[in-house]
Amino acid sequence: MRQVALLISGGGSNMVKLAQSMAEPGHPARPCLVLSNNPAAGGLARAAEMGIPTAVVNHRDFPKDREGFEGELQAKLEASGADLICLAGFMRILTAGFTAQWAGRMLNIHPSLLPKYPGLNTHQRAIDAGDAWAGCTVHEVTADLDAGPALGQARVPIEQGDTADTLAARVLVQEHILYPRVLHRFASGNRTPLND
Ligand code: GAR
Repeated sequence: MRQVALLISGGGSNMVKLAQSMAEPGHPARPCLVLSNNPAAGGLARAAEMGIPTAVVNHRDFPKDREGFEGELQAKLEASGADLICLAGFMRILTAGFTAQWAGRMLNIHPSLLPKYPGLNTHQRAIDAGDAWAGCTVHEVTADLDAGPALGQARVPIEQGDTADTLAARVLVQEHILYPRVLHRFASGNRTPLND
């Protein structure tokens, strides 16, 4: 059974969907920790309601000390027994040293059709570019931001009159379907990308 740590910074809707999916019979993974850099993250209470252990490592306690912050993250992860990390709306950039420690064992969901629009403001950038499609990508995390091998994508049409918010809401619905599907495959040892 894989032990999954879910890292969040905000509301944690993807974390909830992942945790619910892991509760299904026969799932090869279980959530062992919800960890946030933000003590005010709404997802912490949602995780506690689901009976998942929670922890906070506030990045503001480590000004200009990324390694110190990540050292604390690593300590919490090791204490939890995690052998897989799912970044789920975790809004801190991780160093090459940290990503190397978790190489092949850390997934992220990003709200664009990577390699388009790594970084922030993905939906507005897709609208401004006149794209016909937006979407989301689950990928392995490497040292390069939002650039690790893709494990699955879902596409969402951009509609006339879409704002970043209306588009984000429709993409989020697809994130909630895609991420649990990819995690299930990945935790079962299947690292081939989803192709639909
Ligand atoms: C999601 O849309 C996720 O793709 C995005 O943050 C949101 C978190 O929502 N992640 C990133 O932008 C990572 N760079 P949630 O807290 O409700 O899951």
